[in-house]
Amino acid sequence: MSVQTLHTSTGPPALDDAQTAQFERSGFLVLPGFLPNDLVTRVKQEVDTWVDTGLRARSIAAVLDHAAHGAPDVLEFDLPGHGELLTHRPLLDVVGRLLGPGFGFHHMHSDRHAPDLPGKGWHHDYEQRSTSRRTHTMVHALHYLDGIDPDMAGLAVLPGSHREVADKTARAHLGTDVLPREVYLGKLPAGSTVLLHSALFHARRAKPQFPGRPRYFVDASYCEAGALWPPVKPYWREMLRRARRLGLGGADWPDLFAEHHFSEYTRPE
Ligand SMILES: [Fe+2]
Repeated sequence: MSVQTLHTSTGPPALDDAQTAQFERSGFLVLPGFLPNDLVTRVKQEVDTWVDTGLRARSIAAVLDHAAHGAPDVLEFDLPGHGELLTHRPLLDVVGRLLGPGFGFHHMHSDRHAPDLPGKGWHHDYEQRSTSRRTHTMVHALHYLDGIDPDMAGLAVLPGSHREVADKTARAHLGTDVLPREVYLGKLPAGSTVLLHSALFHARRAKPQFPGRPRYFVDASYCEAGALWPPVKPYWREMLRRARRLGLGGADWPDLFAEHHFSEYTRPE
């Protein structure tokens, strides 16, 4: 299967039935050029600020050693374009179609991948730890602000693997190897979003032989209501409080930053 054969969207307000069915079957949706140009431009500038002024490094330190650092002074969504991206109405309409009403924001990351950044082996990012069932859905919205060029790292996904009940690292021994049933996304226009069921196995396949442009990458994840989701940031309560104080999303998604979606934070082993 190539990406051209997939049912894709160029930015309607929500998904049609065929797209929803495809997401359920394959575990991902490609939305080429989904984001408006002006939003992409602003978020890209903010990614540069986030990386170049040390805000990203501080955010990572706060996760690794919360006792020493506390919550970061600036979170990703404190940058106005990032806050707008997190709550971009067409995106939340799509997420709502996949997760149903009342879904919550889980976390956001922002980065600028240098051309020589190593790949990331096959893994998934589903946060429920139960090894027996997958009752609730979590999605990751992967935003490729500058798109993906053939000489940049691409995204490999394994269609249908979100229906397996497997550890995040169950395919780690495969590194970033090409797998028989994979779909490889190696070329996307600017402002493209790929929606993954968070349990879908995927890999970032690096191309260190090409010293090209950096890859601007922001991801935000959302979780279905009705389950307790383990947070990934020790300062998750403060994060949600600050999002509510900023009024992100307005009144249309009242549960988006609610604490009731979450269990207590525990440090990964
Ligand atoms: Fe991932």
